[in-house]
Amino acid sequence: MAEPKENVLMEKITSLCKRRGFIFQSSEIYGGIQGFWDYGPLGAELKRNVKELWWSTMTRMRDDVVGLEATIIMHPAIWRASGHVDTFADMMRECPMTKKRVRADQVEPQSGIVYRFLGALNDDSQSLCLSGSILDVDIERELLEEFVATESPPALSNLSEFSLAPFAVASIKRYQPNAGANEIDSAAYAHVGHLKTRLCVEPISVIVPLGKPAESARKLAIQYYESRGVGAPILVGESATKIDRTVDFHPESGFELGSPRPFNLMLQTWVGPIQSDENIAYLRPETAQAIFAQFKNVHETSRQKVPFGVAQMGKAFRNEVTPRNYTFRSREFEQMELEFFIKPDEAVEAVTGAVATPASKGHPGEPQPNWGWQLWHQYWVEERIKFYEGIGLPRTTLEEYWQKPEELAHYARACVDILFKFPFGTQELEGIAARSDFDLSQHERSSGKAMGVFDEELRTAFGKLPPEKQTELKDRYYAARLKYLTKMGVPLDKAGAEAQEDADGLAKGQYIPHVIEPSAGVDRLILALLANAFTEVTETDAKGKSETRVVMKFHPRVAPIKVAVLPLLKNKPELANKAREIFQSLRGHMMAFHDEAGSIGRRYARQDEAGTPFCVTVDFETFEGIKDGPQAGVKDTVTIRHRDDGKQERIATSELLPWLLARVK
Ligand code: GAP
Repeated sequence: MAEPKENVLMEKITSLCKRRGFIFQSSEIYGGIQGFWDYGPLGAELKRNVKELWWSTMTRMRDDVVGLEATIIMHPAIWRASGHVDTFADMMRECPMTKKRVRADQVEPQSGIVYRFLGALNDDSQSLCLSGSILDVDIERELLEEFVATESPPALSNLSEFSLAPFAVASIKRYQPNAGANEIDSAAYAHVGHLKTRLCVEPISVIVPLGKPAESARKLAIQYYESRGVGAPILVGESATKIDRTVDFHPESGFELGSPRPFNLMLQTWVGPIQSDENIAYLRPETAQAIFAQFKNVHETSRQKVPFGVAQMGKAFRNEVTPRNYTFRSREFEQMELEFFIKPDEAVEAVTGAVATPASKGHPGEPQPNWGWQLWHQYWVEERIKFYEGIGLPRTTLEEYWQKPEELAHYARACVDILFKFPFGTQELEGIAARSDFDLSQHERSSGKAMGVFDEELRTAFGKLPPEKQTELKDRYYAARLKYLTKMGVPLDKAGAEAQEDADGLAKGQYIPHVIEPSAGVDRLILALLANAFTEVTETDAKGKSETRVVMKFHPRVAPIKVAVLPLLKNKPELANKAREIFQSLRGHMMAFHDEAGSIGRRYARQDEAGTPFCVTVDFETFEGIKDGPQAGVKDTVTIRHRDDGKQERIATSELLPWLLARVK
């Protein structure tokens, strides 16, 4: 089956998410809409926390990154220049019966018996025109079956009077040995007519698991021919073959899939009142392109110098053919993307004398002026892993996958996927690509607007280089630009002239920045955090009764509710009032929750399921003073209960806010 059965852990997670209000199916009251998900009260807080942490880590806490908030719908020329209109497609295969499509590279292998049928006969007596025929229906059917069985599929698909006539004559002679020549001719004529109207020549194959009767395959085939308009089909040309691990059959229907065809993933709409081709626009399939399209404006207004980055997060849309694994592959989702613009290596070398290359694995430390694209790439991979660790995804749950040269997009120099061990397999959480100067170059050529930058430091440094070094760097830059231009189909002579201009520009301090792109999905990260936090705890009470409950062990920085404030007893006004007062004092600083309903144990359990790291309890000692120990008699304290180990400590109410802030920010 291509769609792996949701495993038990995923089922538990999805059920908790619905029950506690993390994630709901979009449009659920109308049966849902595949690939779209809504975030409930807890999910909305979790998502907001994740996005705010990404935003502050990637922009506010850095001197070299600024933000952008662009529109979802942009000029369609952007998507032509980026290559999305022509190439943002998945290869799909379609089930001939249900018309359902699957991604060609995602068909799970199946084993079983493949039944092949060459076609079907229409046995609908309504459609028979037997007048004048000397054959009865049964004999005719037998003849047709024999005919189909003896013909090869290509010949069958080219049925003609010419190919049928000799067969018809021979068969009539066999069944009517005494018929005269005229009688045979006219019978053959009628017979050929019937053959043509009654025979549907469309070979199909279906797979059934080993041990399942052939009848189940025949039933499917009959349904297929019926759907093609063959009344009461009689299957012909059946054969069976045992097959192991084939990826050619639809996982649900069992029918053989059609050949792979490209299917563009962009969702489109029309802008303005006229729904014509000229007004087609696309819902962005990634947030990145707006950053390239606005590069000049951001560069000029932010007064940043390369290297610097532009961050954006927001909705992206892809008409995924097989949305699956809960929110992992959705049709509407959110991305958090950084385009970090760097100098081409030739410019770095001109300014610093030599480009530093990675010396070892791991974080390369603080950025240096002599870093080329490789070190910047390594830096961002490590920074992103550090981010995940900082929000509670340990390195052991992550893997790096360095794409092989043959897997890279034609403009990419390297791409690392950060994978997370999801319950359904280890899969991509974020991709970090070194995209060369492809994107800005494309928009420069397509819009006619210059996308390059001028770098005074480079101009000065270049002028001071010995002539042979100048030539070497210009030649290398020329070769790289020529490669890009010819790959994009620019004729060689024109490409040569343009590349030469670019190389001359480099010597004058001009270049098109290269880019490193860490691109993460919000929804995938939420799913990873949910899976990582999900913990089952079994407890046995004094009477020996055991109960298993869920504790969502979110890192306090991402937890939807940071603190729950609970009076020990609801019906004691002084406890209830104090709890409410503490809650009011905290809620302006963090997501706090106030709960008085039910036993304190139940309330703790409810907060554990929501993933609240701290519960603050107002009890009698708050007023009467601590009973025992070194702090005996101290008043105005509360109990803090820790979610993960249930341990409790007492703290002065006045210290509560700084105590919490130090742990949840
Ligand atoms: N600008 C580069 C880009 O969009 P991508 O690998 O196609 O690259 C980046 O997407 C990230 O966006 C992925 O690593 C994933 O986290 C998220 N993403 C992509 N398609 C998604 C989908 N259909 N549903 C949820 N998240 C998706």
